[in-house]
Amino acid sequence: MSKTFYLKTYGCAQNVADSQRIKTHFYNLGFKEVNSWKKADTIIINTCIIRESAENRAYGLLENVHQYRKKEKTKQKIIITGCLVGAALNQKNKKGIPKIEKLKEKFPQVDQFLPISKISFDLDPLRDKKLSALIPISTGCNNFCSYCIVPFARGKEISRPFKEILTEAQKALDSGFTHITLVGQNVNSYGSDLVKEKGSYTLPTKEKVKPVLVKSMGKTRIPTLFPYLLETVAKLPNLKTLSFISSNPWDFSDQLIKVIKENKNIDRLLHLPFQSGDDQILKKMNRNYTSKEYLDLVKKIRKAIPDIILTTDIIIGFPGEDEIAFQNTIKLCKKANFQKAYLNKYSPRSGTISKKLYQETISQKEKRRRWHLLDQLINKVNTK
Ligand code: 5AD
Ligand code: SF4
Repeated sequence: MSKTFYLKTYGCAQNVADSQRIKTHFYNLGFKEVNSWKKADTIIINTCIIRESAENRAYGLLENVHQYRKKEKTKQKIIITGCLVGAALNQKNKKGIPKIEKLKEKFPQVDQFLPISKISFDLDPLRDKKLSALIPISTGCNNFCSYCIVPFARGKEISRPFKEILTEAQKALDSGFTHITLVGQNVNSYGSDLVKEKGSYTLPTKEKVKPVLVKSMGKTRIPTLFPYLLETVAKLPNLKTLSFISSNPWDFSDQLIKVIKENKNIDRLLHLPFQSGDDQILKKMNRNYTSKEYLDLVKKIRKAIPDIILTTDIIIGFPGEDEIAFQNTIKLCKKANFQKAYLNKYSPRSGTISKKLYQETISQKEKRRRWHLLDQLINKVNTK
């Protein structure tokens, strides 16, 4: 009888995409997937640590499995993977000891800490046929928003080669998918590492992209390949809808707007996180744009693509977010007219700049109050 595994995934689309390859990896090792952890020989937990609440959900499952294993005297194996492992491998504690050692001490019940880098992109992902085909276009992030653990959990941004992404997209279409989602921590910056590394990058169209500096919102940057990639994928035959997630406002280029406008199969639902409507808070978050620049971008996008629908992410209660700063967020929401907002209460993450520099100033109660106000303003109105 073949061995069985149960896989639980927490977190973002990137984690979901990773899990689809983890499944292939375990099938290749002779395992079969089961849908209940009690029935599995091996339980794999793909973790997210973006906020304490996400991290705690993984610990909850780990504890349940551990207790069950003890009580029923089963020989189940527990594997932890994902961002918890990534961050622990990349970070050291104050004494210079890698945090992975601490993690092993803290969770002796875990049999294996599996780095996600061990799961190769060469593996064909096992996808749910009913959903959009997720295709990772890059890993990691170079933005270093002060609150964010991602650059530590996933390392610096590395783009997958253009051709590799096209091949995966074509394969997905050949196997019957009609909806593709390109996934990255910041898809807009896709390829700037490739352009820089090679001195210039020759696209499949033979066009050369050079690493000149162009002025973007808050800083200069080298051109990215994302608009070209998006357009090339959009033109693949039989692709009905092409989405992408997630986009950072600071390098949302005019060229990208043009590509979306001209290719009708690119999703008109655009996720554009703004995090805060207050310029001082945005500066402390290291977001590289002001609220006006964000709103100008929204205006520009709406003018070019009138049927665009916007969704966003907001962080509530970042240190120093006083009532005036919060009202600035409310004002921005009223002007931008989002269809939906993902509302995240600020959660200090170990190793991030904001945790090091800023004491929390907003109570949980006040964060909840602000959460409800924004929820009423954006989400409740749109679900009526
Ligand atoms: N606390 C709260 N929310 C956070 N996010 C990222 N880091 C934190 C944090 N430390 C939110 C941001 C981001 C989304 C994926 O998660 O809004 O866009
Ligand atoms: Fe969570 Fe960030 Fe890791 Fe995605 S990349 S799973 S949001 S910590």
